[in-house]
Amino acid sequence: MSDFRYSTGPTRVVFGSHTLADVRPEVERLGRTRVLVLADPGLGTVGDRVREALGALAVGRFDGAVMHTPVAVTEQALALLREVGADCVVAVGGGSTTGLAKALAVRTGVDQVILPTTYAGSEVTPVLGETDGGTKTTRSSPDILPETVIYDVELSRGLPLGITVTSAVNAMAHAVEALYAPDTNPVTDRLALEAIERIARALRRVKADPADADIRADLLTGAWLAGTCLGSVGMGLHHKLCHTLGGTYGLPHSPTHAVVLPHALAYNAPYAKEAVRRIGEALGNPDAPAAIHDLLVETGAPTSLRELGLAEGDLAQAAELATAKPYPNPAPLTQEGLAGLLRAAWAGERPSLGGPPRLDWLTDQVVSTIAGPPRLRHLLGDLVRRLHGFAIDNDLTQAEWQAGVEFLTRTGQLCDDKRQEFVLLSDSLGVSSVVDALTNSRTPETTPSAVLGPFYVEGPPELEHGTDVADGLPGVPLYVEVTITSTDGSPLPGAVVDIWQSNEDGFYDVQLPDLEGPVLRGRFRADDGGRVRFWSILPSEYPIPADGTVGDMLAATGRHPYRAPHLHFMLAAEGHQRLITQLFVAGGKYLDSDAVFGVKQDLVVDFPAGTGTPPPGRRVTGEWRDLRFTFRIAPA
Ligand code: BEZ
Ligand code: FE
Repeated sequence: MSDFRYSTGPTRVVFGSHTLADVRPEVERLGRTRVLVLADPGLGTVGDRVREALGALAVGRFDGAVMHTPVAVTEQALALLREVGADCVVAVGGGSTTGLAKALAVRTGVDQVILPTTYAGSEVTPVLGETDGGTKTTRSSPDILPETVIYDVELSRGLPLGITVTSAVNAMAHAVEALYAPDTNPVTDRLALEAIERIARALRRVKADPADADIRADLLTGAWLAGTCLGSVGMGLHHKLCHTLGGTYGLPHSPTHAVVLPHALAYNAPYAKEAVRRIGEALGNPDAPAAIHDLLVETGAPTSLRELGLAEGDLAQAAELATAKPYPNPAPLTQEGLAGLLRAAWAGERPSLGGPPRLDWLTDQVVSTIAGPPRLRHLLGDLVRRLHGFAIDNDLTQAEWQAGVEFLTRTGQLCDDKRQEFVLLSDSLGVSSVVDALTNSRTPETTPSAVLGPFYVEGPPELEHGTDVADGLPGVPLYVEVTITSTDGSPLPGAVVDIWQSNEDGFYDVQLPDLEGPVLRGRFRADDGGRVRFWSILPSEYPIPADGTVGDMLAATGRHPYRAPHLHFMLAAEGHQRLITQLFVAGGKYLDSDAVFGVKQDLVVDFPAGTGTPPPGRRVTGEWRDLRFTFRIAPA
């Protein structure tokens, strides 16, 4: 738990498309009548549109805002403001124009209405940074906070990609530093994470579709939320470095933020683990510094201070300046530490928390070599991607991969025409049940399917109705009468019904070499009513073959090898789809932990005690069971 103090700012926010038209009512709402319009010089006719929207309220215009808010420029604008007797400034533009509005407001008390066209976020902060003779000073006061902010998504739709990215990363930096600020609180935490998520999501898409209104809305919302964080809690190393680099070396504001952010975050990461974890989650990559760097690369933004014009010889002095005055920051601020950070940022290195290297290029290379029919290409390509991803995400060691290869080799060596260890592996990993569910059981009108298993034998003996398939083997006698119908309920005479099951000890006949001939299996043909009748014994739970690699895997992972007690059925009827399924004994063991994940609720049925005279076919003394079931199979 940590204590906090939090107050919400009084700024009014108007957000939407074409909200530029709201500028006049918003000024009137403030009770102001004389507006000085401050327009970013690079905005073309937008300043004129704002002026038009204000109508007679506009009494002057100043288009000369400059980066870092030099006091000399503020004084020129101030003279104009006084000359025209303005009681309000309306600023349309990026951080520089907003800065000028704030500088005028703090000197005169005029109200401010800001229409941001970039993602600086400063429109919702009570902070003003000004430069005078090469030195940047920053102050904070409630008078600096604009009264109204009008976010008009339309104004940023045409913002060039370069400034879009760098100013959005600038906004992201506010959110990043808010998450490890000493005065953090639950509100700014949520705002910061939402901002990071929206900005990252939008930046991944903006290059492909720069004018998309939803992408722009995400960026603008992210900027607002991030700016709100900046106005609520203290910033650390990243902002300090950027102020130094901008104020002293004249580096451009938002590109500097973009270049420095991943490095500042990597520097702080060992001391702000929880914040970095949450940032990573919001970015969709646990290596948050690397993820931000990669975003810059993907969007073509600058990644080095060198390309922004910083001389290598200035690095040492910059590190010294940034440590001159102490300020709160998660990681200790040492001159060597910052010199290292700045050098890496200067060179444009990819900072990383030390996770696995990026191997997309290798995956892409492999996938690009895959030709052939489209479905094969697709399946194999996806398999390669997932296998590479599996290895990368788990930082797979050579020994682990080798163990996997050996396991599969032994699995293959166990396979012959009697034993299929690979199918058993697929069964025990649930893959067979997944493929089965995808292929069958997709219509609620049909009986669900279940896995085939390894114990089906082609061409089972054809048997008469009423035969005892147990051939006298011990067990609780079970009478089975099943009806095979189509999905509309009409019986299917002549349907071919293959059945097979294990004995009382859980073995199939093929597992018992001493047993003569096929038992507990057979083929029946449905009578005129679509019915099949036979005697057998109650199936019991049994272990899947556990003397091979699958058994090793089950033992190594703490799993038991048992299947819930069941009877197998394979049904085939003219004009209908084949159904392979099983009926499970309600109340049997392992129904909820079946080793091959074959149990489906609709296949768990009562095998109730038989009453009255047992049907002919088996000599019964004492308890017997009576299974009745209707299968519905789908027309082909
Ligand atoms: C079976 O029920 O016969 C079975 C199914 C999958 C794996 C092993 C056995
Ligand atoms: Fe079975």
